[in-house]
Amino acid sequence: MLIIAHRGASKLAPENTLAAIEQAVRLGVDAIEVDVHHSEHELVVIHDRWLHRTTNGQGRIQDHSFVKLRELDAGSGERIPTLWEVMTAIHGRCDLNIELKGIQDVIPVLTLVDKAVAELDFRPEQFLLSAFNHHLLFETKRIRPEMQVGALTASCPLDYANFGSVLGAYSVHICMDAVTQPFVEDAHSRGLAVYVYTVDEPEDMHILIDWGVDGIFTNRPDTAMNVVAKHSH
Ligand code: G3P
Ligand code: MG
Repeated sequence: MLIIAHRGASKLAPENTLAAIEQAVRLGVDAIEVDVHHSEHELVVIHDRWLHRTTNGQGRIQDHSFVKLRELDAGSGERIPTLWEVMTAIHGRCDLNIELKGIQDVIPVLTLVDKAVAELDFRPEQFLLSAFNHHLLFETKRIRPEMQVGALTASCPLDYANFGSVLGAYSVHICMDAVTQPFVEDAHSRGLAVYVYTVDEPEDMHILIDWGVDGIFTNRPDTAMNVVAKHSH
């Protein structure tokens, strides 16, 4: 089961910051997930549209210039990183799941992925673009059929993982509160990987390993690595 550091190692350092990315890489995770928004002509790594929860700023991302956003404290003196800074910090040492949050146009994201493959020792298959907005993923596959996409859901649909098949997704990413064993089996019968978010409790990790889940998003990659190592013993 893959360990995906959710917003970086976000229990060990402020979420979606370079400190959280560096902690996750140091732990040796399989992948890192970050949330991405547009700010003017830049791609910035932050979860919420509103600034007050994770920074000392107020208002929305779109109310500020990119330069002003970069002056904010994103926790412990960290700055809101750009997606390129995150890619540079990882430098191909683990996979990167880019969750498209405040993104209307996927082309700048694809351009940056291409640049990372060209300049930062990443292989194309190390990237996974995910979104709750499945229209954005549909558009991604239309523009770039070979790009791996992960379709997010916070529910267990009546037709299970069919949305993943419709999109030609690589994986389906489902909430811990919604995932069931039949969902996992249905996704696997369609050739889709199943990643579950956000899983911080060892007991839940053990259940998901037993169900054959392919990966978990966790704020505690250190804990998850111990659980995976000990599971079969
Ligand atoms: O990508 C998995 C997970 O991050 C989705 O929910 O709200 O934490 O971005 P959220
Ligand atoms: Mg996310």
